[in-house]
Amino acid sequence: MKIVAVANQKGGVGKTTTSVNLAACLAARGKRVLLIDLDPQANATSGLGVPPMEGQSIYGPLLGHEPLADKVLPTRWENLFLIPGDLELAGSEVEVARSEGHLTRLRTAMEPLRADHPFDYVLLDCPPSLGILMTNALAAADELLIPIQCEYYALEGLSKIDHVVAQIRECGANPALEIGGIVMTMFMRNNLAQQVIHEVQEHFGQLLYKTVIPRSVRLAEAPSHGKPIIEYEPTGLGSTAYKALADEFLARH
Ligand SMILES: Nc1ncnc2c1ncn2[C@@H]1O[C@H](COP(=O)(O)OP(=O)(O)O)[C@@H](O)[C@H]1O
Ligand SMILES: [Mg+2]
Repeated sequence: MKIVAVANQKGGVGKTTTSVNLAACLAARGKRVLLIDLDPQANATSGLGVPPMEGQSIYGPLLGHEPLADKVLPTRWENLFLIPGDLELAGSEVEVARSEGHLTRLRTAMEPLRADHPFDYVLLDCPPSLGILMTNALAAADELLIPIQCEYYALEGLSKIDHVVAQIRECGANPALEIGGIVMTMFMRNNLAQQVIHEVQEHFGQLLYKTVIPRSVRLAEAPSHGKPIIEYEPTGLGSTAYKALADEFLARH
């Protein structure tokens, strides 16, 4: 079982879109996938057409009150499971932060999963801030998948994440944490985007996925229908891209 944190401290870079669609594509390839929505905004949850549900998020397990396995829901898609997000998660910034071992609460809550490995992959859709939830995700994960937008500040953002990863390793919360991959999102064919991709490639080499996710209105529309892109528009550019990303992801693992 691999635990992958889909993370970037910046909002609006395609974390949730990538979490939902990569999870759906991996499930369609026959892998058993658990998607954990760690964002109080719960966009990954609504993106899979799951209505808000009180008390079903990872919040209880984070506080050590309930087993994580109790929160796992099946979805309409075979092999795809979800722990939904909810607003209660926002309380973690206070409640979890003041509890013992506050950085490794998620890691601890996931230990039974590591032992039983009922899933091939667990994807953690992280919120867009360097708060307690993202830190817990990094402490629990085997590796990071970093979506970044093809824009001028991309490299600057990446060096910040690099720094955070080093801190998580050095403080002992997760000495084995690695950056597993970087994926460029919302690509539009222009000189700046090409140049940014070139620069990321120079700095991060093999870590950069060859698959680039294009900007596509369909990808932005799909969540409002509660569907991953492979169901919303099975043959479009977005589907093709996320299927290619899933194949590349599987080849790396
Ligand atoms: N490839 C894409 N093409 C067009 N719109 C996209 C694409 N990826 C994401 N979006 C849209 O951009 C916004 C931010 O994406 P999201 O995945 O929610 O980012 P994050 O989780 O990093 O905040 C959302 O409205 C989403 O639908
Ligand atoms: Mg998000």
